Amino acid sequence: MVNKKIKWGILGLGKIANKFASDLQLESDAELYGVASRSSEKAIEFAKKYNAIKTYSSYKELAEDADIDIIYVATPHTFHFENAMMCLQNDKSVLCEKPMGMNASEVETMIAEAKKRNLFLMEGLWTRFIPATEKVIELIKNKTIGEVLFVKADFGFKPNYDPQGRLYNKKLGGGSLLDIGIYPVYLSILLLGLPGNIKAMARFTESGVDSYCSVLFDYENNSKAILESTIEADTPIEAYVYGTKGNIKLHKRFHHSEKLTVTRDGFPKEEIDLKYKGEGYIHEIEEVMSCLINNKTESAKLPLLTSLNLIALLDKIRNEIGLKY
Ligand SMILES: NC(=O)c1ccc[n+]([C@@H]2O[C@H](COP(=O)([O-])OP(=O)(O)OC[C@H]3O[C@@H](n4cnc5c(N)ncnc54)[C@H](OP(=O)(O)O)[C@@H]3O)[C@@H](O)[C@H]2O)c1
Repeated sequence: MVNKKIKWGILGLGKIANKFASDLQLESDAELYGVASRSSEKAIEFAKKYNAIKTYSSYKELAEDADIDIIYVATPHTFHFENAMMCLQNDKSVLCEKPMGMNASEVETMIAEAKKRNLFLMEGLWTRFIPATEKVIELIKNKTIGEVLFVKADFGFKPNYDPQGRLYNKKLGGGSLLDIGIYPVYLSILLLGLPGNIKAMARFTESGVDSYCSVLFDYENNSKAILESTIEADTPIEAYVYGTKGNIKLHKRFHHSEKLTVTRDGFPKEEIDLKYKGEGYIHEIEEVMSCLINNKTESAKLPLLTSLNLIALLDKIRNEIGLKY
């Protein structure tokens, strides 16, 4: 029997959609079937570039196309809920860019809709599937550096100031925390679980979103996480996991790192190179494909509960720094 290819749609054709579409070509069981933009010219151009079969000049037409299996939602944060819900309500599985919604209540509703319809849903947190992340999980599990004492991670860059752009515009969910701070916060959840206590401080832009956010997590077992994000300065974008017997450095950019340095008490430093394929998105694509082929409605590596816990934690941080959308 010839395997039927899984038909993908992409909703919103911006920067990340381009990288994703490029990696989707590496997956032989996937077909980029349809691409939807608010502009038909943009959709046609995108389709040509990445060999998509169909184009749509509205997101709704894509969601309603009965031939599509799964839709990748790649719009600014504030539209994830509305766009993903429309796809789910048209019986499409969804891979939704991070953050999955603007708050826990949105994410809860999305999860309930997917569960009710028995559809696959996952947040596009590609970091989880990057080979270097997989290796860190293995090293921690094997107690290579003993018990984890604390995690340190930063993510900062300095884009050109554009008050209308999605990074600064409050209406598009701007600010450092939801865009890039999500990665240090996710890393701490991945390695340490959910914190008991949190402390957070921020600086704000004139447009009213956080330009800098500093977060401290305190865990029941006394481990800590020290995390930072900013759109005001270029920072190292590295992560360190310190344990009782050594430490692991995730080289820049830690959220899709290709190099780890493992330092263990009494041993020489070990450098581990772990290249990812394509632009790095292929690893999350492979996970989604494997779930769909095996009729799984969620990923065991990035369960929906993790996405819900993550956004609930981001809600708490926003509450601490006084950031309301
Ligand atoms: N996983 C990652 O590595 C990664 C990296 C970057 C971003 N992201 C996530 O992906 C999402 C999109 O980021 P991006 O950098 O690709 O953004 P972007 O370049 O601004 O593209 C977003 C696209 O969304 C659509 N859109 C719909 N309504 C819009 C509106 N009112 N204003 C602007 N765009 C609108 C547009 O597509 P059409 O014009 O085609 O309709 C636009 O091109 C964000 O949620 C972000 O967190 C993830």
